[in-house]
Amino acid sequence: MTQLEGPQGPLESALITGASRGIGAATAVTLAQAGVRKFLLQFNSYPEGAAEVQAALAKLGAESTLVQANLATVDGIERFCAELKPEWDILVNNAGSLVKRAKLLEYTPELFDEVMNLNVKSVYFITKAIAPGMIERKNGVVINLSSIAARNGGGPGATVYAAAKAAVAAITKGLAKELAPQGLRVNAVSPGTVDNHFHEVFSNRQILDSVVAQTPAGRLSTNEDVSDVVLFLCSPAARYIQGQTIEINGGMYMV
Ligand SMILES: NC(=O)c1ccc[n+]([C@@H]2O[C@H](COP(=O)([O-])OP(=O)(O)OC[C@H]3O[C@@H](n4cnc5c(N)ncnc54)[C@H](OP(=O)(O)O)[C@@H]3O)[C@@H](O)[C@H]2O)c1
Repeated sequence: MTQLEGPQGPLESALITGASRGIGAATAVTLAQAGVRKFLLQFNSYPEGAAEVQAALAKLGAESTLVQANLATVDGIERFCAELKPEWDILVNNAGSLVKRAKLLEYTPELFDEVMNLNVKSVYFITKAIAPGMIERKNGVVINLSSIAARNGGGPGATVYAAAKAAVAAITKGLAKELAPQGLRVNAVSPGTVDNHFHEVFSNRQILDSVVAQTPAGRLSTNEDVSDVVLFLCSPAARYIQGQTIEINGGMYMV
């Protein structure tokens, strides 16, 4: 039995992008533990990770389908969306990346498009592909991944990523206004610094130690610190929360 509930009834299935590792993988497991029984898991370059998540879900009694897509290209987004059936109760738009740290003078239009495609365009158009089913059933929950970078402008060479994540927060507000009357609940979560693959690639131990030193909670975030808030937003306790971006950063940045 699912413990999760949308505006008009139980939430039994979930589409999670970027589910091969990190926050997306943890979210899949957290939702399966709460009773979600059917998943579509998107991954890009790490099929082994996606297969591990699929096996973990199977142990929890949940079935899942894996789909590969590069969401940093318009073609990749369009091909992924074209295959989607609007049958999902929960959509977690989680796939995202800094792609590359680059400052203004070295930033190329191609890198700009890649960052915007992956972090913004995919969120909007995957939601467009899934929303018709939620609207028809008058029941659905959409959760987008923003970032602390949207609030503070990002770390070195992350300005465009920060702008993309600010766009995600704005899209979350706009879609909540548009879709709440049709029975959907749209919100976002905004992690601080999560101790996972993302920062293995884009940071180093020195940077992470300085983040810990500036964080009132005295540690980095885990993937589960974030997936538990996604779970909350899928629960009946979140029934009156619309268009919000929930900051999860151990007090590092207080809105
Ligand atoms: N880590 C943090 O500190 C932090 C902070 C704030 C916000 N966030 C946001 O949280 C979300 C999840 O990130 P994470 O921390 O879990 O990072 P992660 O461990 O690096 O995982 C990123 C996920 O996104 C997928 N992805 C990356 N590039 C992609 C592409 N071009 N096309 C399709 N999928 C792609 C990856 O797929 P493959 O591995 O299969 O390539 C992976 O499943 C992202 O939106 C990120 O921006 C993270």
